[in-house]
Amino acid sequence: RLTALIAGSVGKDGYRHYMEKELHEHPVVIGQTLQRMIDPATRRVVLPDLPFDLATVPRAVVTACGSAFYAGMIGRYWLEELARLPVDIDVASEMRYRNPPLTPGGMALLISQSGETADTLAAMRALRADKQHIVSVLNMEQSTMGRESDVVLGMVAGPEISVASTKAFTAQLSVLASLTVAIGRARGTLSEAREDALMSALFDLPSRAAEVFTNGDAIRSMAAIVAKARDVLYLGRGICFPVALEGALKLKEISYIHAEAYAAGEMKHGPISLIDSSVPIVAIAPSTILFDKVLSNLQEARARGGKLLVFTDAAGARRLKGVAEEIVVLPDVDAFVAPILYTIPVQFLAYEVALLKGTDVDQPRNLAKSVTVE
Ligand code: G6P
Repeated sequence: RLTALIAGSVGKDGYRHYMEKELHEHPVVIGQTLQRMIDPATRRVVLPDLPFDLATVPRAVVTACGSAFYAGMIGRYWLEELARLPVDIDVASEMRYRNPPLTPGGMALLISQSGETADTLAAMRALRADKQHIVSVLNMEQSTMGRESDVVLGMVAGPEISVASTKAFTAQLSVLASLTVAIGRARGTLSEAREDALMSALFDLPSRAAEVFTNGDAIRSMAAIVAKARDVLYLGRGICFPVALEGALKLKEISYIHAEAYAAGEMKHGPISLIDSSVPIVAIAPSTILFDKVLSNLQEARARGGKLLVFTDAAGARRLKGVAEEIVVLPDVDAFVAPILYTIPVQFLAYEVALLKGTDVDQPRNLAKSVTVE
């Protein structure tokens, strides 16, 4: 049934835009991608044969462009925290010229929806010349990057037609989360109980993702505020910082409103000077161990007149009552999968703002789906 849904997805299926349709495909795409990575009988991640040993691989180097790079940043938090694997990361246009000293036999992780992005492909070739094993996370497996990889970890996102990436991002994260668990297992950094808990969080995720769509009204209330702004600040901490980056990128791309994302703790080192009552602050703030830190950052912003628009869960919402202007209350999930879940409403917000602005959502000016020039 799931395959039919994706295979039949070349039209708009009654949605106003491809982007709207692709946003609604998040739950299915996450589910399909996890199905490909996980054996349901053993509830363990199963990887294709690798030309190296995950238990002893010395380091990972991660590179990509655009949204795929932000997915890679989230992957770094997971790989370092859960698998204790050291990770170096940079955007591909920098990585290809940076010439970093790399340990031969390391794992290069390249992330790309199209498999054709010129900078990512060139970085891949440079990393191969530096004796790295090339593992790519691709939607288009029959692509140049697919042909030149040692191993392809396929996402199962189906065709993504909207120029601004949506479902490919959560598919990339589903692959990277699964890969992290496999590497953690191989390196002995996860107890059986912890691995069971992580796998349960992944199994639960498609249903939790579907619940996000009950928040349409709250997201539209936020969008009404954002659409009136000239500048918007996105804040997140830890593994939710790249989600803030993705939110700001999506808003810029399709609504043409200037947006910046900061790690919330950095706000006091500069961006706080921009805050007044005309600058909405969008915060990605699940109630994880960093919640109190984010809350105090948000209180500082509010004291300067900033309007707080917060994505959180029920426990976070109780703490934010009277502090935030608008709150979107998301389902409770394990902190492990929070960046995947929180991406969905954050992209949705950009879409709703673009509708209010009347921009060309699927074909934003000056942007291309796949950038095949340097
Ligand atoms: C373009 C697209 C972005 C995408 C980036 C990387 O800029 O507009 O949505 O994230 O390319 O594309 P890739 O195909 O390599 O993931």
